[in-house]
Amino acid sequence: MEISGTSQNKIALITGASSGFGKNLANLLIYEGWIVVGIARRTEKLKEIKEHLGENFHYFKCDVSKSEQIQEITNKLKDKKLLPNLFILNAGQLIYEEDGNLNITQYRKTFDINYFGVIEFINQWLPYCLKNGGTFVGISSLAAKQPLPNLTSYCATKAAIANTFESLRLQYLNSNVKFVTVFPGPMKTDMVKSPKDVFFIVKPSDAADYVLKKIFAGKQLISFPFFYRMLIKIGYILPNFILRKFINFKPSPFEDKDKTKNN
Ligand SMILES: NC(=O)c1ccc[n+]([C@@H]2O[C@H](COP(=O)([O-])OP(=O)(O)OC[C@H]3O[C@@H](n4cnc5c(N)ncnc54)[C@H](OP(=O)(O)O)[C@@H]3O)[C@@H](O)[C@H]2O)c1
Repeated sequence: MEISGTSQNKIALITGASSGFGKNLANLLIYEGWIVVGIARRTEKLKEIKEHLGENFHYFKCDVSKSEQIQEITNKLKDKKLLPNLFILNAGQLIYEEDGNLNITQYRKTFDINYFGVIEFINQWLPYCLKNGGTFVGISSLAAKQPLPNLTSYCATKAAIANTFESLRLQYLNSNVKFVTVFPGPMKTDMVKSPKDVFFIVKPSDAADYVLKKIFAGKQLISFPFFYRMLIKIGYILPNFILRKFINFKPSPFEDKDKTKNN
């Protein structure tokens, strides 16, 4: 797919660019000649990435759960004439819920990051994109299609992203704004530090390569890897005790990164 507006700009904004999938997407896009605006909270990580990727990587510290910070970044980018036409809204957190512990504060925080941190970027940039063209990519998860035990808040945010993007896709079908939803299965990133081996886990560099190729080929719904796509398809007829063997994982304890950030 020709990314709408690409002829003028090749500028991508990526949230959650400091590690994992987002960092690998930034790497590949820079290699393909794009300018990348990387957004995250850990500026020390973003600085290291800039040292590696060079002048075409611009970074900004922003907590996507705070609308006022997104507004501030948007104004800065407009002032600097760094006007993206590809928005990869990837920042996310996953909190493992111990049995019986549905912590509402953590629930709200997961929604503020994984859901409202995406919606606010769309809200800020949609009017510009309707005039100039643009593509919004929402990073959902296969967990939106097959929810996982002990991850109720995470799965709910990812289902909300998928539904919202589907609605927006239909609403703006005849405009020059595109909405792409990505449904990754397990990727070997900081998010999935499981003590148990996860079957068919994908390297984030391979995932980034696959997803960008699909986006540029014009796909608007992208799911991978094949094993988990198929598992979900047959999951409806599998006895639950078999299904649970494949979808049961416990990541390492959640570290509240807000508390560990001082720059
Ligand atoms: N790994 C998987 O198996 C998997 C599967 C399906 C979907 N996904 C989705 O893929 C996306 C990327 O995750 P990942 O696997 O690459 O994990 P990761 O390495 O933990 O990356 C998460 C990224 O989100 C950023 N982030 C988190 N909270 C933020 C906040 N409040 N404000 C700004 N940035 C924030 C983090 O940056 P800072 O900490 O520096 O802010 C980091 O760059 C997530 O949306 C995740 O849900 C992952």
